Amino acid sequence: MSAPNKSYDPVEVEALKPEEIERMRDEALAAFAAAGDLDELAHAKTAHTGGTSPLALANREIGALPPQAKAEAGKRVGQARGAVNKAFAERLAQLEAERDERVLVEEAVDVTLPYDRVPAGARHPLTTLMDRIADIFTAMGYEVAEGPEVEAEWFNFDALNFTPDHPARQMQDTFFVRGPEGVEGDESGVVLRTHTSPVQARALLERREPPVYIVCPGRVYRTDELDATHTPVFHQVELLAVDEGLTMADLKGTIDHMVKSLFGDDVTTRLRPNFFPFTEPSAEMDMQCYVCRGASVGNPDRPCRTCSSEGWIELGGCGMVNPKVLTACGVDPEKYSGFAFGFGIERMLMFRHNVEDMRDMVEGDVRFTRPFGMEI
Ligand code: PHE
Repeated sequence: MSAPNKSYDPVEVEALKPEEIERMRDEALAAFAAAGDLDELAHAKTAHTGGTSPLALANREIGALPPQAKAEAGKRVGQARGAVNKAFAERLAQLEAERDERVLVEEAVDVTLPYDRVPAGARHPLTTLMDRIADIFTAMGYEVAEGPEVEAEWFNFDALNFTPDHPARQMQDTFFVRGPEGVEGDESGVVLRTHTSPVQARALLERREPPVYIVCPGRVYRTDELDATHTPVFHQVELLAVDEGLTMADLKGTIDHMVKSLFGDDVTTRLRPNFFPFTEPSAEMDMQCYVCRGASVGNPDRPCRTCSSEGWIELGGCGMVNPKVLTACGVDPEKYSGFAFGFGIERMLMFRHNVEDMRDMVEGDVRFTRPFGMEI
């Protein structure tokens, strides 16, 4: 171990010489001044004030000095570090202010620029209305059922008690699907379904044993020309309930509930006798006009375009499921009874929203669908 160095001269410690300290300080100040942005300033800060910076290293040398030299060297280094910190803080404030100003300019939004985003689409009101109707019934415990649009003639007609010579089976009403080579449409046994009622037969056959409670929204086809009030492709909602002890009163109550849910609590319904091969008895269901409530009837001063001043709006067909249909689908008509109804969605959209031309629903122009919004 060597003896203490008696000839140690603090002034000779290179790093603590006044001109050295000044140089370190000036270099730090110059580096801060040269930093063009906050990143560069952060680097300069580490280099000139960090643990391994020249000034920090010089500061460490002070501890080794004899007491009489410590004070002076400490003051010198302290003043230099103070000046460096102050210069850093000033440059930092300056660069931050510059950045804030730049951000304000660069990130400004010109609210007067033309609107160029792709406009949002909307669900088609037919879909929304069908969903809304299905919701009414699923809330009552019904299940949503579906069937094919290209349907066996047997499901579309035979199972539903249409006799072979029923007019609905004629080519002028029904789209027949051509069979393999040589098999003409009316011999193929395949049609585009003309109503959603074949789903009744499918649901009963699939389930085997009632209770069956289904609601079936879907697309159907008839050979109509497209005009303001007809379209060859349209939509229906079908309802079927088969259980023990169901009566016409259940049918009427169910129709009432649907109409009140869609049009208001005080709108009433009525049934008029009608005929369908698959229901017995059958009826036409009407709802009171929810706009004029009958006030336009015989009152030319107050015409109503929703019900054409009739006071009632025709909804669609309904009835008690014909026992022949139950039998064809393997359900015992002695034990079970059922009711069903079906109605067109396009027609309902027309009178519910005053759509005057059915072609608007078909053409797919978003200017038609968008105002209906996103009612879900
Ligand atoms: N399927 C019938 C139609 O398209 C409507 C209907 C459904 C009638 C259910 C009675 C029962 O006109």
